[in-house]
Amino acid sequence: MRVVRTIADLRALLRPLREEGKRIGFVPTMGFLHEGHGALIRQSAARCDATVVSIFINPTQFGPREDLAGYPRDLERDQNLCLECGTTVLFLPEASEIYPTGFQTHIEPGRLAEPLCGRFRPGHFRGVATVVAKLFSIVQPDLAFFGQKDFQQTAVVRRMARDLNLPVDVVVVPTVREADGLALSSRNTYLDEDARRRSLSLSKGLLAAKAAFEQGERQAEALLALARGPLADVDSVQYLELVDTQNLEPIQGAVDRTSALCVAAYLGSTRLIDNVILTPPAGTA
Ligand code: PAF
Repeated sequence: MRVVRTIADLRALLRPLREEGKRIGFVPTMGFLHEGHGALIRQSAARCDATVVSIFINPTQFGPREDLAGYPRDLERDQNLCLECGTTVLFLPEASEIYPTGFQTHIEPGRLAEPLCGRFRPGHFRGVATVVAKLFSIVQPDLAFFGQKDFQQTAVVRRMARDLNLPVDVVVVPTVREADGLALSSRNTYLDEDARRRSLSLSKGLLAAKAAFEQGERQAEALLALARGPLADVDSVQYLELVDTQNLEPIQGAVDRTSALCVAAYLGSTRLIDNVILTPPAGTA
């Protein structure tokens, strides 16, 4: 595994691979990697000839009251996990490499960035879309891998790649969970013992709703009620919504198309998100 810190070095490493027709996979991350990232890297390594992983804590996607300075870091552990999972090149740019003095061009996502997390994190998806567009342009991957846990992010990134005709396939990889159901997240490290126990309310409700859906429950309100029940254990619920996966608009009445049941909640000062995708079997919609 090669470790590079500049765009010029990364491009110099990737140019011959591209010229040889190698397929390049890309996994953008903000570090403090866990098995969820491991799954993305492994999938890229299995499907591509070379896998680039970036670790860059992107300042433009954090709001003024969010945890940029305190965002967890462990570069040594990250490097080991990247190596273990089959990374070819690890890209570790400084903020000045990505946002040099005078930087002023941003990607403004459209309606997909407005609901769900977008309502509570103004500017977040503008920061995500901008850095991902820049990283796509730097790495020029054939495939890029994102985790389903950040469901709205995958929708915004997919739309951006389509709208800007970026020649990359965005691949969404299912959420990796702890044995008890908690979705893996770098932010889980902030949970103390009590919050960790109560954090199970998110996955418990979502998985109960998914099980009911699979047994034939199709009413949005009934599915939302199942997901809402266990949330009595969290400190506050930011949102719990059932949305159409294509346009992220709320679903009312019968769930007759692929939908995402999404939640964001606080345990103390830690904000967790999670979701499940509900897909009606073909021919039943
Ligand atoms: O999902 C993340 O870790 C970040 O939002 C991403 C895609 C690396 C952009 O900074």
